Amino acid sequence: MPEFALSAKEAHQIRADAVVVFCCKGDRHPAGLPASALRTSLARAMKEDQFTGKEGECLLWHAPDGMPASRYLVVGLGPADEFDLESVRRALASATRKLQSTARHMATALPAVGRRLNSAARIGAAVEGVCLGGHRWTAWISKTTKARLAKVTMLASSTAAHRTAVEQGRIYSAATILARDLTSEAPSTMTPQAMEREARRVARETGLKLTVLDEARMKKMGMGCLLGVSRGSKEPARLLHLVYKPRRQRGTTPKRVALVGKGVTFDSGGLSLKPSPSMEIMKSDMAGSAAVLGAMSALKALDCPVEVHGIMAMVENMPSGTAYKPGDILKSMSGRTVEVLNTDAEGRLVLADALEYARRLKPDCIVDLATLTGAVVVALGTLCTGVMGYDQKLVDELLAAARTTGEKFWPLPLIKEYRKLLDSKVADIKHIGSRWGGSLTAGHFLGEFAGRDIPWVHLDIAGPSFAEQDQPLARVGGTGHPVRTLLSWLHPGS
Ligand code: BES
Ligand code: MN
Ligand code: ZN
Repeated sequence: MPEFALSAKEAHQIRADAVVVFCCKGDRHPAGLPASALRTSLARAMKEDQFTGKEGECLLWHAPDGMPASRYLVVGLGPADEFDLESVRRALASATRKLQSTARHMATALPAVGRRLNSAARIGAAVEGVCLGGHRWTAWISKTTKARLAKVTMLASSTAAHRTAVEQGRIYSAATILARDLTSEAPSTMTPQAMEREARRVARETGLKLTVLDEARMKKMGMGCLLGVSRGSKEPARLLHLVYKPRRQRGTTPKRVALVGKGVTFDSGGLSLKPSPSMEIMKSDMAGSAAVLGAMSALKALDCPVEVHGIMAMVENMPSGTAYKPGDILKSMSGRTVEVLNTDAEGRLVLADALEYARRLKPDCIVDLATLTGAVVVALGTLCTGVMGYDQKLVDELLAAARTTGEKFWPLPLIKEYRKLLDSKVADIKHIGSRWGGSLTAGHFLGEFAGRDIPWVHLDIAGPSFAEQDQPLARVGGTGHPVRTLLSWLHPGS
C-alpha cells in the first residue's frame, strides 16, 4: 500500500511523476483545472484522441520539459448525473492500474461534479480506489513486476477531517485486502489450522483475545453438525473466536455484536460430490470467515465503540471412507437433530453449531456471512449479497451501510410458508428443502438455530465474495466483500 499525503496545491502546480485529473462524459476539458497552458494542452489531446470520458477511459499525455510533472493522466468518470462515491473509487482504481508500475509518486485531483458529496467522503473513496484497484494477489508468482508506486498525493487541504478520511480509507482497504488474500490462497495451504495461525497473528498484532476450539472441545460441547461435516477430511476442524472490546467509556455499556463466518476451506461437496467445474472456485468457500477476520483486524485502528465477537467455523468438506453420508442424522449443539440429505449442503450444518455458540454469548445481535447457496447467485448474480433475517430493523441497517460503501446488498424474503419445506419425518429438521427458493430455505434453516429472540441477519455472499474475472476494484480472486460494509455498520461515520 503506498504512502498517502495531502497537498493544497493545484493539479497544474504539483510536482510528481504523474498527475491525474478527471473528466465527465462529454466534457471538453478536465474538471477543476483552472485555465492554464496545461488545460489547453489536455483539451487538445482529448479532442485528438476522441476521448469521451466514459467510466475507466484513460488518456496519458506526456508533457514537454519545464512542466511540474512529466505525465498527466485524464481519467473518465462516466456521465455527470451518475457520479457518486463509487465513480471516485473506480476512477482512482483505473488511474492506479495505469500508473502503478511506472510512477513512484502519483498526484491526483479529487474527482468532483459540482458540489456534490463532501470532500472527506471523496478522499476516503479515493484512497480505497488506489488500494483496492491496485491490489494483486501474487503470493505464488515467481517473477512479478513489483509496483513502483510508493506515494500518492491527494490534492486537498490537510484538515483533520481529511486526514481521518485518508486513515479510514487505508484501514478499510487493509482489512479488505486481508480477506481477499486469505480467500485467494490455495485450499491445501489455507486449511482450518492455517486460519488459526492467521487469527493468532491478528490477535497478537491488534490486541484481541482469541479462543480456539479443537475437535475434542467441540465434541464435548456437542457440535455434532460441524464435526459431521468435518469427518471426511484429514484436516482437523477449528472454531475460532476473536473478541474485540472497545475502550471503556464511563457510564455506558457497549453494544455487543457477534459476526459468524462460514469457513469451509474447500468444498468438494463431500460424497454428494460436485462436478469438476463447480469445484474450481471452492477454495473460496471460507470467504465468510475471511471477511470476519478482515473486519476484526481493523476494529482497534478504527477505535470501534462496539464489542465484537468474530466467530469463524473452519472445516474442510471432503469425501472419504469416514465422510458423513446422505441419510445420516446429526445432533446439533442446540440439541436438535438434523436429517442430512445432500452432503454438499454443508455450510448450514457448520453454521448451525456456530450460531448456537454465538447465541450462548448473549450478544445484542448476530450477523452471519456465508457462501451458502448457488441459488443466490442465480437470483442476484455475481456482484450482489442476499440479505435475510426476521428482524427488519437489523436488515435495514445493513442495507443502509452497504449503500455507503458501494457493496451491493439486496433483501430476500424469508417467506413463512417455506419453513415447512424443512420438516423431516425422521429427525427434528432436515437441512434442505425443495429445488426452488434454495437460498430462502437455507436462510430459514439458519434462522432456526439463530433463534427469534436475538436479532439476526444472514448474508449470503456466494456471488460477490469471489471474482472469476477482473473487476473495477478487484482482480481475479477473493474480493474481500463485504468487509467495508461490516466496518461501516459497526462504526458509522468513523
Ligand atoms: N459452497 C456452496 C455454495 C456456493 C455455490 C458458493 C457457488 C459459491 C458459488 C454450498 O455449500 C453448496 O454447495 N450449496 C448447494 C446446496 C444444495 C446442495 C442444496 C448448492 O447451492 O448447490
Ligand atoms: Mn457445498
Ligand atoms: Zn459450501
